[in-house]
Order: sequence, then C-alpha cells, then structure tokens
Amino acid sequence: MKNVTSFLMALILLACQTNQKTVQPKTPVTGALGESAMVSSAHPLATKVGVDILKNGGNAFDAAIAVQFALAVVFPRAGNIGGGGFALYRMNDGSIGSLDFREKAPSASSRDMYLDESGEIVPNLSVRGHLAAGVPGSVDGMFQLHEKFGTRPMAELIQPAINLAYYGYVLTEDAAYQLNQKSEDLAVVNGDDFFLVKEDGWRAGDSIKYTELASTLVQIRDRGASGFYGGIVADQITKEMQRGGGLISKQDLLNYSSKWRTPVTGSYRGHKIISMPPPSSGGVAVLQLLQGAEGFDISSMGHNTKETIHILTELERRVYADRATHLGDPDFYDVPVDMLLDKAYNNKRFASIKKNAKTDSQEIKEGKVDVIESVETTHFSVVDPDGNAVAITTTLNSFFGCKVYVRGAGFFLNNEMDDFSSKPGVPNQFGLVGGEANAIVPEKRMLSSMTPTIVEKDAKLKMVVGTPGGSTIITSVFQTIMNVIDHGMSMQEAVNAKRIHSQWLPDVIIAEKEGVQKAVLNQLENMGHVIRFRDSMGRMDCILVREDGKLEGGADYTRGDNYAEGY
Ligand code: DON
Repeated sequence: MKNVTSFLMALILLACQTNQKTVQPKTPVTGALGESAMVSSAHPLATKVGVDILKNGGNAFDAAIAVQFALAVVFPRAGNIGGGGFALYRMNDGSIGSLDFREKAPSASSRDMYLDESGEIVPNLSVRGHLAAGVPGSVDGMFQLHEKFGTRPMAELIQPAINLAYYGYVLTEDAAYQLNQKSEDLAVVNGDDFFLVKEDGWRAGDSIKYTELASTLVQIRDRGASGFYGGIVADQITKEMQRGGGLISKQDLLNYSSKWRTPVTGSYRGHKIISMPPPSSGGVAVLQLLQGAEGFDISSMGHNTKETIHILTELERRVYADRATHLGDPDFYDVPVDMLLDKAYNNKRFASIKKNAKTDSQEIKEGKVDVIESVETTHFSVVDPDGNAVAITTTLNSFFGCKVYVRGAGFFLNNEMDDFSSKPGVPNQFGLVGGEANAIVPEKRMLSSMTPTIVEKDAKLKMVVGTPGGSTIITSVFQTIMNVIDHGMSMQEAVNAKRIHSQWLPDVIIAEKEGVQKAVLNQLENMGHVIRFRDSMGRMDCILVREDGKLEGGADYTRGDNYAEGY
C-alpha cells in the first residue's frame, strides 16, 4: 500500500511538474510606483537625472535627452554620444511619432569592405577597431528631439552629464566587472596606457572621472550639435579615423541628419501596439509575432510551458526568416512593411505551425550560423506628469562599441557597421543573416533589432517597453507584452520573468538559466527542439500604467543596475 501511495504521489508530482509554470520571484512583485511620473533606465544616476528634470518642470522629452547624455557618462559601454538609436513617443493627446538617429555607413564604405580577396569575411573587421564605426547619430537625435518637443534649455539637460563626467562617480560592481572583462580589447585598440585599463582591475567603489568627455559635452552644450559634428570634436574624430584607418570623414559628420519616421502600429487582444519602423526590424517583427500569438490561447497555455515555448519558437523562426530577406533601410530598399503586417499574409505564414511537431529551420530557408553573447545596448522609458511617454533604445552595438576611444574627445565609437549583412547568408555577431535588403551602401543605415514600443488600451497609455539584447530584443519585448496582457503579471514581474529566445537560425531555443523546468526541457527535446542556456538575456526598462492609475516602473535590477524611480 505504501508503495502504491508513493507511486501515486510521484505521478502527481510529475503531472504538476509537467504543467508547472515558471516560479516568479516572490518579492518584490511590484516595481517602483509613482503617482504622476516615472523614469526607468540602466543606471540609478541616470534615472535620478531624469527624475530631477521632470521635478523641475521638464517634460518627458527633456528628461529623456538628459538621461541619454547622463548614460554616455555613467554607462559608457552602451550609453553614448558616439552611437545611435531610436526614440518613440506618444503624447498625452494620443499622437505618436518616432525619430531615427541610427548611425549611417560612411560615404567611403563599400559593399565588400569586410571581405578578403577571396570573398571571405575578414574576422573581426566589422566588429573591432576604426573600420567598424558608423557615423554617429545620437547628438543630432537629441537636438532634433529638443527642437520639436523640448521645453527646458538644452544647457540644463546636458549639465548633469557634464558634472558626472567632470567630478566623477562611483563604479558599481557590474560596471567594474564589465570594464575588467573588456580590458584586453580596450588595450589592443587604445594602447596599454589607456586610462580605463587598470592592471589590478577595477573594483566596486572605485571612482572614475571622464574629464575629456566633460570638455566634449561642454562643446555640445555651448555650440549645439555642431559642437560635435564640427569644430574641435569633429577634428578629433577624423584624426582618430586617420590614426586607425577608419572611414568617417568631416563631410560625413556634417551630412549626418536624423529622420522622423511614422511608427508601425498593430493590435494585440484589444490593445494598440506602437513600435519602431525600419530601419529597425523590431517593430515589424514584434507586430508579426503578436499577430501569430493571438491565434493561440497563451494565457491558458501558461508562462514558459512546453506548449508556449514551442509555439513562440515556431512563430519566431518564421518571423526572423522574413527579417533576413525583407528588412533594411527604407531609404535604400523597398521594405514590404504592409505585406509583412498583413493579416492574410501572416495567417498563411503561420498556418504550417503544428502544435506538437517542430519545423526544421532549414525547411524555411537555408543557412548555418552561430550566436555570441557579449553585446550591449541600453533602453530607457519616461512618462511625465502630463502623460507624455518617450521610449529610447540607443547603442554602440557591442560593449564599448568598436572599442576606439576618440583621443582628446573622450568617448567610444560604435561598431554598428556589423549590423549590415557583410556577405549574404553569413551571420553577424548576433547570428543574424541578411542579403540585398541590408547590404552595405554609402550613407545607408544598417538594419536594427532595437524595439522601443508603446502599448495603448482604450486610447490610453498602458505600457512603455524596451531592452538591449541584439537579436533577442524583439523576443524580449514580445514576451514582456504577453507577460502583462496574457499572464497578468505586474510590470516588475514581467521584467523579472525568465526569457527564452529563438531566431530561425541557428535552429535552437536559447533560454535563461532556470527559465525552463526540467520536465518542460525534456518534453521540448523529445519534440526535437535543441535548447541552449544563457546566464541572462536583455535588461528591460519599462513602465506600466496600472488599473488604479499609478505608474509602475519595471527595471531589470536582477540582471543589471537598472533602476526605476517615480513620484
Ligand atoms: O541595432 C541593433 O539591433 C544592435 N546594434 C543592438 C545591439 C544590442 O542590443 C547589444 N546589446 N545587448
């Protein structure tokens, strides 16, 4: 009898495990709360800069601009003035828009610039060093945002960053670790005497000053965008290019201009989804994924169960295959956005999904690729007391971009050229493949996965969402939206929840450690899925307007130093 009872108990336990949902962290289940305003960013000092601007009467755009400049100082591996990004906004009257301040290929770039004589990719050429840098867009982007929407003087918005750079700040454990991790690369590119390379390593609590960067920010404060794209800073950038064989010219800097673009929009279970259009692939891909997910009862299927992971993976492999072929800079390539967002098109695209059988990615399209992990971007979200919302995702691409620190000017340059498809079908550092749509052309913008996204319900603001993570950005945003809408999570729970990812090629599911229960893992493997684990994926900074009207910040403090504060 005892044996029978134990057997039954074991069966019950197994059954429970099979349907088990990922256990969510018990505390805190709620993120920072605010009655009227909220800022969520990758670093507490940058968040505080944004909150101060709001408290002094600035609007969401003023705060976002100040946060962007502050992140260039306190989060220099991704926060930047030497990179680019996308800003998405929704005003309190419901009007929406987006600004594309993505980097551009230098005018001297060419389609095969990263290939050797036999047509093979030269390892690392598009990733590390001067040739990897695109023409930076962030400074122009901030001035264009300010010109249209800013209410406080630009000098007031840049000054906090100048102070942080000039007087210094204290490194967190994560910041010290990241600097140490990259010290070899930083020394190779900038010399052994580079001030960010410390023989015995950086430690939490060390303080750091960026005095050259402070001077550059003063130029920008006093001379506007031309304090960066002209004058002494432009000289410093072009000298740096000459020193290391880079391509960015004075004319490229003078020619740089951000672009206002119309966001892509769609719906998900009664919500309106607003996201970034090309040259980001993120908005189109998230809308396609949500269209696909709407055909399944994700809520009863449960969070990170076998059923849900299988279906998301099947949707993702189809959407990322579309991305590889159809998406690129719309100024240079006719991107079929309408077709990709068409319900009939997507219904047909997803019709081949079977509930219990995996489709091989090779059946969808050929290719063989691998994914690397060490990359960095940053996202921040702001809602002001009037209910205006701004979501900005900005990047140097890899940690510290191409690692080149512009001498005298004190900032890192991006390695965004790697986001182009250097050779059709050959993966970039995110394992993403592409072709004609995303080939290198002078002055073209490289395809991005950055996905700042805003969700509306009943014509009111509901969520501001975004994250870094390269190719995993799209799937992290997708899951976070479902976590709130389908799984009823708070903003902080939705951010904390373990993430999974797949992207057509390679034909694998990547899961955060402890994100998939053992029983679920076995079931997925039995279906033929291959699962790989990764420590962490993305660092979200999101805001939810709760039913009670309060704002809840969801900041990825379990994965980084991310910090939300409201009032
Ligand atoms: O634009 C893109 O898609 C990439 N450059 C983003 C890089 C990124 O998110 C790296 N971060 N973790």
